[in-house]
Amino acid sequence: MHIALFGATGGTGRQILAQALEQGHSLRALARDPTKLDPRDGLTTLGGDVLDPAAVAECVQGTDAVIGVLGSHGQQEPIEARGTERILVAMQKAGVRRLVVVSSLGVGDSRAQIPWAFRLMMDLMLKRILAAKAEQERLVRASGLEWVIVRPGGLTDGPRTGAYRFGLDPTLKSGRIARADVAEFVLRQLTDDAFLHRTPAVT
Ligand SMILES: NC(=O)c1ccc[n+]([C@@H]2O[C@H](COP(=O)([O-])OP(=O)(O)OC[C@H]3O[C@@H](n4cnc5c(N)ncnc54)[C@H](OP(=O)(O)O)[C@@H]3O)[C@@H](O)[C@H]2O)c1
Repeated sequence: MHIALFGATGGTGRQILAQALEQGHSLRALARDPTKLDPRDGLTTLGGDVLDPAAVAECVQGTDAVIGVLGSHGQQEPIEARGTERILVAMQKAGVRRLVVVSSLGVGDSRAQIPWAFRLMMDLMLKRILAAKAEQERLVRASGLEWVIVRPGGLTDGPRTGAYRFGLDPTLKSGRIARADVAEFVLRQLTDDAFLHRTPAVT
């Protein structure tokens, strides 16, 4: 497949990029600093901000599917909802239907799936980011596209294991998961309809 990737320079984005190329996909990645991504066969890196509609449109053009793995680490204003809004507009205009977005366990109806201590920490320190992720999810659900919202537990940089739990069971509690395993699950959602229009946890 030909995939547009937003967030390719991030921890999970890099894993998605590497595994997608391994699987024979080709990628268009939008990066604020394109020098962060080494040139690779099958990878087209475009310089630009996800808040720039023209840059987003150029990235999405001619692709079969889009992956959004934006994060707000170290930013004043959370990027998730604002960036996703631009991506959705570009997809509608280009007629690209499939979208996989990485959100988080703890967002929306998954709040009870994270431990109470972490819930407290989220309420105190991550309130704005959580609100942006909830709005991101709302926008995606309302998009009319073929979407999957993936909600991971706590991310680690550990190796890919394949030994993780996933699904829609609300009793599935948040635990840690390697970004590499999240990437594997995200890539599967490009062609697997089991979680189409759903918000699976991965943990
Ligand atoms: N940390 C956890 O334990 C945890 C748990 C559950 C869910 N999550 C969520 O999982 C996702 C992936 O996390 P991660 O730690 O792998 O991500 P990350 O390393 O923070 O990467 C975020 C990506 O978003 C990009 N980005 C941010 N603002 C942008 C903008 N204006 N234009 C273009 N790109 C922009 C960053 O690009 P730059 O390189 O330019 O900054 C980077 O590529 C995030 O949504 C995170 O909130 C995290």
